[in-house]
Amino acid sequence: MQTWEASMSDRGSEASYGRDLLELLAALPGERVLDLGCGTGDHVALLRSRRVAADGVDQSPSRIARAEEKYPDYPYFSVADARALNVEAYYDAVFSNAVLHWIPEPAAVVASVASALRPGGRFVAEFGGAGNVRTIVDAAQDVREEFGLPRAPVPWFYPTVGEYATVVEGAELEVRSAWLFDRPTVLDGTEGLANWLRMHAEFLLEGVDAEKFVGELEDRVRDRLWRNGAWWADYRRIRVVAVKG
Ligand SMILES: C[S@@+](CC[C@H](N)C(=O)[O-])C[C@H]1O[C@@H](n2cnc3c(N)ncnc32)[C@H](O)[C@@H]1O
Repeated sequence: MQTWEASMSDRGSEASYGRDLLELLAALPGERVLDLGCGTGDHVALLRSRRVAADGVDQSPSRIARAEEKYPDYPYFSVADARALNVEAYYDAVFSNAVLHWIPEPAAVVASVASALRPGGRFVAEFGGAGNVRTIVDAAQDVREEFGLPRAPVPWFYPTVGEYATVVEGAELEVRSAWLFDRPTVLDGTEGLANWLRMHAEFLLEGVDAEKFVGELEDRVRDRLWRNGAWWADYRRIRVVAVKG
């Protein structure tokens, strides 16, 4: 199971991609915004610096502790599970970046988001969509089989636009837009693919000799994912904007 340590999001590039999503959120000063799965708090701090009344929740206590340490002037972080926010009609918007593919119960998350929104409030989210990291995962599963191991069960929820829009509408939110797009993402350094596997896809390494396995995997995907001296993960994201009636 994936664990989220405080140190991890400080080096991740997800927070910088999330800034783009903040433009889509277009929060106004004074609006109440919840950052769902806020990690170590960068988006909350950025919103607060724009006078938006942002709060952040994350299910990882160590990440919340790190957010509080980084931003001692912003006592707006708490530990909570996206599936059970227990907030009623309070927020003008719920924002979420790079979180929802980690939670295999999307209907519970969306119901919890819907209840946290006031009527007219919006849900703006981005996460991994159908086909995300397919090149890496398919090749890794093939290598596992060649090493005599079973294919590893994949823990991620990577929906199509149709699948996710249906879930969102099921919670009586009106989908205003939803789209799926390729976002090739550079991984740092020649060890980039190996580090990405260790950080995000440990389940693929279960039972293998990691060094041999990664070497074999790199050979297999180099023609598609190695460009200009760096590894590029074949990320695909889904974005959705929905409104509570
Ligand atoms: C890749 S990080 C993204 C952090 C931040 N949103 C950003 O853009 O940098 C994913 C975060 O989702 C959180 N998370 C995973 N499952 C969760 C859940 N059920 N409820 C709340 N947060 C969750 C993790 O603890 C982690 O901080």
